[in-house]
Amino acid sequence: MKNGDMNMHVRGTSRFVDDIPAPEGCLHAVLYMSPVARGKIVSLDVSRAAGAKGVVAVYTHRDVPGLNQVGHVLKDQPLLAVDSVEYIGQPIALVVADTPRNAQRAVKLISADIEKLEAVFDPREAAAKGLVHGARRVLVNGEPEAAFAKCKYVAQGRLSSGPQEHFYFETQRALAVPGEHDTIKVHASAQSPGAFHRHLAEVLGIPMHKVELDIRRLGGGFGGKESTAVWIVAPAMAAFLLKRPVKLVLDRNEDIATTGKRHAYEYDYKLGLDAEGKILAYQIDLFQHAGACADISLAVLGRSFLHVSGSYNIPNIRITALSCRTNIPPNNAFRGFGVPQGTFSIEAALNHAAELMGADVEAVKRRNLVRDGDTLPYGVKLDSVNAGRCWEALDKKVDIAARRAAVAEYNKTHTDTKRGLSVVPVCFGISFAQMALNQASALVNIYVDGSVSVSTGAVEMGQGVNTKIRVVAARTLGIPVEKVRVETTNTSRIPNASPTSASSGADLNGMATKFACEKLAARLREFAARHLACGDPASVTIRDGDVCVAEKRSDLGWEKLVAAAQWARVDLSEHAFYATPNLHYDLKTERGRPFAYYSYAASLTEVLLDCVRGTYTIEAVDVVQDVGESLSPEVDLGQIHGAVVQGIGWATLEQIRYGADGKVLTGVNAYKVPDIKFVPEHFDVALLKDSSNPFAVCNSKAIGEPPFIHGLGAYFAILQALRSVRRDKPAPSLPLTPEKAFMYLHEPVGKAGGAK
Ligand code: MTE
Ligand code: MOS
Repeated sequence: MKNGDMNMHVRGTSRFVDDIPAPEGCLHAVLYMSPVARGKIVSLDVSRAAGAKGVVAVYTHRDVPGLNQVGHVLKDQPLLAVDSVEYIGQPIALVVADTPRNAQRAVKLISADIEKLEAVFDPREAAAKGLVHGARRVLVNGEPEAAFAKCKYVAQGRLSSGPQEHFYFETQRALAVPGEHDTIKVHASAQSPGAFHRHLAEVLGIPMHKVELDIRRLGGGFGGKESTAVWIVAPAMAAFLLKRPVKLVLDRNEDIATTGKRHAYEYDYKLGLDAEGKILAYQIDLFQHAGACADISLAVLGRSFLHVSGSYNIPNIRITALSCRTNIPPNNAFRGFGVPQGTFSIEAALNHAAELMGADVEAVKRRNLVRDGDTLPYGVKLDSVNAGRCWEALDKKVDIAARRAAVAEYNKTHTDTKRGLSVVPVCFGISFAQMALNQASALVNIYVDGSVSVSTGAVEMGQGVNTKIRVVAARTLGIPVEKVRVETTNTSRIPNASPTSASSGADLNGMATKFACEKLAARLREFAARHLACGDPASVTIRDGDVCVAEKRSDLGWEKLVAAAQWARVDLSEHAFYATPNLHYDLKTERGRPFAYYSYAASLTEVLLDCVRGTYTIEAVDVVQDVGESLSPEVDLGQIHGAVVQGIGWATLEQIRYGADGKVLTGVNAYKVPDIKFVPEHFDVALLKDSSNPFAVCNSKAIGEPPFIHGLGAYFAILQALRSVRRDKPAPSLPLTPEKAFMYLHEPVGKAGGAK
């Protein structure tokens, strides 16, 4: 099926926020941000900036008309700092000028006297000092203590995984245009229409019906535009106060230096197995590097917490999780939403255990894969498990044992280069862990010419949710997809929408669309039965734009039917609502059914390591992914390709470095994301056959985030190649950069400080 957006992207005709022609008199806003990681604001002088060329206004917290607050979950994040700062990049003042350049120049004229206070940049140190967000979560299932006593092998260690910059093509931005009656319209690059709508109204101090947030598409979001409203609310405030359009665009380095990232984690793990390699017990402590404000960190941590068992059956477990408050910009959602970090720990622990056993790690993994009837640590008894099926399908595709033997053979005969491979299974729970977010609504309008428009709360950010919604509408109404247009995401048409995240955009909004279209289709069939005087509406079907009676085409086509129905005063518009049923979770007991279903997959990654230089090539990735009955195989394949590469980036290349003062040192010229040459030469993706899923729209399964986990395969394949050279030191942390590989290979034991 043609993806309309894709054609436009290729031709450069898709409109993003910056492509909207600037309205007459449009002003430009730039934030003045804290240069210190933690401090007391003793004084702030904006007078020179206020008098600078082209400057129209300079605002501080005193000018905020409503609530000076953009905390997403907890109210702990002022829009503009009041008397203290908690991270480098925290907004303190807003300069508005006639051109972006004049605003940037004026920002440099602001001077602040900030008394520096001791800052914390290490999550374990923050934990020790009691600097945390929320409470520590603890889940115990079975009897881990007793089970450890029975284990033949116990792998124990300390590990960490690093942060990741979202690197969406389109940086954070918004354009705010004031209207009559103190209203405001905001065009933004944002994933959370409902929540940001509310932040806008609260900060401006006006009711939500005076604010219209409109989102056409994002040049990528990846979770980074889900929770922090600063860059949308700030220009809106200026536009509201000045009664003129105002735009704010972060430049790339500002975006990298001051926005939240994927959370880094620290882990303490202990995994116990019996003599046959069956997992008996697991103990895992998660320390999340959250940053200065809670943002959405507790929700991300919750998902890591619920995924520490990965794809494995673990009968006895003790999990603890703590969100650590440090003085870096508040971290936020990033594709996988904590699941990659949770999965990494068990994969690493299993890898370690297999080494102790002297066994093939694939055999140990296969042995412990979840199957029907197994119970997850939080009490869900699994059925319809496809973990084994994905593994078998992968095995059939690549012959794991043969590939493993070939790698071993290669490594026996080569010293300057080594190979490594890794098989990674995926088990990914789908639903928002925050129950209230599992809802969506849709508005479907059929126009008198037969064209159809669909509005939902889903945000198109390149993941193809609009393509899928279009398929659902066309299929349910029985018309060609060309007849359906998906509208912008707009808070005046769809209120209170959940964010498009947790991979549930198509699931939730697709289902609401289906419900609305079903109501319309039923109404039109009933009308057609009357109109054609054929009696029974049940004998009428609409297929490919034709109206059929008892399977026979009538001469009434879709356009004629719609026109006649409108003339006969039949309502051609419908709104519908969907809330995922049967979800529940008790935070006190840490038991419940937090996910509607699970997405499964398995992949094999093979790498070639240059043992002299520490560099490596990701040679091959093979994936089998369970997408149920795909709504759009093209979109799903695209999502898998993109997610795998992004996951490999996190696991291997992407590294953010901070200075001793907490400043991000890796700007756009030093931050490495995978490029086309980095993509594996052999990259083959198969969708699992004969899979269905009664828990999501048209039996499909979510796809946005789960394949990101395959990126871990690159880390473990490189690790294995490294371990074939030497095993006298612990595994390097994730990401496994070429620099770390080099140090691992060549640094003497005991001097492990070089590349952490
Ligand atoms: N794909 C593209 N091209 N751009 C994106 O920003 N975001 C990812 C994923 N795929 C993203 C993407 C993330 S973080 C999520 S949660 C899902 O898409 C959201 O979309 P869905 O729920 O509609 O699948
Ligand atoms: Mo995705 S991280 O849930 O926006």
